[in-house]
Amino acid sequence: MSQMNPRFDVTIAGEVNLDLILYGLPENMPLDRELLGSDFQMTLGSSSAILAHNLSLLGARVGFVTRVGDDDMGRIAMQRLGESPVDLSRVLSGGSAKTGVTILLPHGRTRRILTYPGAMFDLTVADLDVEFLASARHFHLSSLFLQKGLHPGLPGLLRELKRRGLTLSLDTNDDPEDRWDGVLQEILPLVDLLLPNDDEIRRIARTNSVEEALDRLSAQVPLIAVKCGSTGALVQQGSRRIQVPPLAVTPVDTIGAGDTFNAGFLSAWLAGAAPEVCAQAGNITGALSTQRPGGTEAFRDAQLRDSFLVEHGFPRFTREA
Ligand SMILES: Nc1ncnc2c1ncn2[C@@H]1O[C@H](COP(=O)(O)OP(=O)(O)OP(=O)(O)O)[C@@H](O)[C@H]1O
Ligand SMILES: [Mg+2]
Repeated sequence: MSQMNPRFDVTIAGEVNLDLILYGLPENMPLDRELLGSDFQMTLGSSSAILAHNLSLLGARVGFVTRVGDDDMGRIAMQRLGESPVDLSRVLSGGSAKTGVTILLPHGRTRRILTYPGAMFDLTVADLDVEFLASARHFHLSSLFLQKGLHPGLPGLLRELKRRGLTLSLDTNDDPEDRWDGVLQEILPLVDLLLPNDDEIRRIARTNSVEEALDRLSAQVPLIAVKCGSTGALVQQGSRRIQVPPLAVTPVDTIGAGDTFNAGFLSAWLAGAAPEVCAQAGNITGALSTQRPGGTEAFRDAQLRDSFLVEHGFPRFTREA
């Protein structure tokens, strides 16, 4: 039942918030002391919004549905998103919930990530315009465990989108409760492309080894791309497994690199590229993301974005006729 000329390449239903990032904190952060950072950045955050923003700037036609609070944080987030070509015509606002926020505290070799979910728990399947979501070739879902309001109707929604000919991708991101069950197990068999990082895939498959996790999950999901930070990516299609090396870069931070990997991967995948080419595209956009704070600043800098993509041979998205 795939449509001849869908309006979008990708539709995304998901969360939006701002990231507040404090750089230069001491490696050890004692309690009850005033600790000084050396820099601060407020940027568009959240996996779904970062993907929607960056994928649209790679040339894909993206429709994004979200729920946002009627507050300053929500207005800033929407303004940032609105500077990209993403379609925001179905964004919902005006409820009582506040826009969520994530406070990121990189220090030493680790980082603390503290999220107030706010409106992101409130988006439900009943809020969604299924016709809008279905007018695409592909549907993507991020941050499964933050989107609690979506859980009850999600398997039914995904089945309906599949029935209408869309392919589906999922990036669970972390499960704050570390349970990795419930709706995840119900929707995994519907997913065409899974985009976890190396920690998440081990938790999903309940094993300590990425290889073993891939063995298990490849029986359920046709294509899996595992993000492995500074060691690049692993792709698994059926019994075929390929390691795809990273670019050599010095990151400012790696916040949102996984979501931006998803943007590069999906843009190549929708153009019909082979999985290893898609992973290479993801490694390029992931590395680009690390060159500026947060997940979208490198993409907002058009000169950096375009020169980096050309320099590293990013395969340009070409739309199917
Ligand atoms: N230090 C690095 N050098 C080169 N590439 C990197 C580096 N860090 C990240 N990347 C690129 O970004 C991709 C995604 O990064 P990562 O594995 O950190 O994702 P993630 O854990 O899902 O991140 P997120 O915080 O966005 O959810 C990697 O697969 C790689 O392509
Ligand atoms: Mg991630």
